Amino acid sequence: MNILITGAGGQLGRTFRDVAADGDHKCYFTDIREGEGVTSLDVTDFEAVMSFLETSDAEVIVNCAAYTNVDGAESDEEAARIVNVEAPKVLAEAARRKGATLIHISTDYVFDGKSYRPYTEEDAPAPVSVYGKTKYEGEAAVVESGCKYMIFRTAWLYSRYGRNFFLTMADKTAEHPILKVVADQVGTPTYALDLAELIYNIIDNQMLDKVGIYHFTDEGVCSWYDFAKAICDGLGHLCDVIPCRTCDYPTKAVRPHYSVLDKTKVKETFGVDIPHWRDSLSCCIQDLF
Ligand SMILES: NC(=O)c1ccc[n+]([C@@H]2O[C@H](COP(=O)([O-])OP(=O)(O)OC[C@H]3O[C@@H](n4cnc5c(N)ncnc54)[C@H](OP(=O)(O)O)[C@@H]3O)[C@@H](O)[C@H]2O)c1
Repeated sequence: MNILITGAGGQLGRTFRDVAADGDHKCYFTDIREGEGVTSLDVTDFEAVMSFLETSDAEVIVNCAAYTNVDGAESDEEAARIVNVEAPKVLAEAARRKGATLIHISTDYVFDGKSYRPYTEEDAPAPVSVYGKTKYEGEAAVVESGCKYMIFRTAWLYSRYGRNFFLTMADKTAEHPILKVVADQVGTPTYALDLAELIYNIIDNQMLDKVGIYHFTDEGVCSWYDFAKAICDGLGHLCDVIPCRTCDYPTKAVRPHYSVLDKTKVKETFGVDIPHWRDSLSCCIQDLF
């Protein structure tokens, strides 16, 4: 099968490249900027996307492109909207015309975090940040387009690539003797490799007919503090990681206090065994060395 991957220079896209490297499918890796093994393709440019789809004859688009700067989006809504809303519209319309399936990635930040139990796909989104709002509008554009689609909402994505909490904490716990980390926001860290493998296996096992919205994170629940402490300990750093409250660490964007996703649907539909976040963190740390 021919697969178009957009945003392939980002952390999920780069991880998908690792997963697809040994596979049989013909993958076209693209990003806004050209790079090694990555062709330039701006996902907001309908003509360019359509033409790429025609020449590559791609039957699946995996959209890893996004505006992911949660705080930056608060002061630059337009930039976030172009990539998180307009681009999914473009990709969905191109997929519809070509008869391709669009696999689109969304976020736990579509929810307000006021729940007391894991969010299911049936729960009504109520984003509390510009990032969350634009991601939710992007989902809606895909659903309304009439294309074949799968949307995977994930959370707290990390990997050895790009900018993410894992790499930030790896650096900070190496540099500082004491570090305060927010303990009153809980969710689930998700190793990008686990999500990339899920998507690759769905394509590989020809399960693209199972259209819909799915929640996918690793198993378990923790706070950012717990995650930071596990990163610090896993790397053998001597930093004293201390819990603090959200109000002690003000950010531009409001973040949900509780953003755990219920994964029953993805497990039942695709028969996947999802690793616990601690086990995946150990794998990621091993991959670093
Ligand atoms: N990171 C998380 O914690 C998290 C949590 C939940 C959900 N998600 C979702 O997971 C998906 C993957 O996230 P990620 O962490 O891999 O993001 P990322 O590392 O920020 O990668 C996104 C990539 O898209 C590129 N891009 C931006 N505008 C583009 C355009 N117009 N055309 C083509 N490419 C463009 C970016 O390039 P530049 O870097 O040059 O802008 C970047 O290489 C996103 O949909 C995100 O919303 C992420």
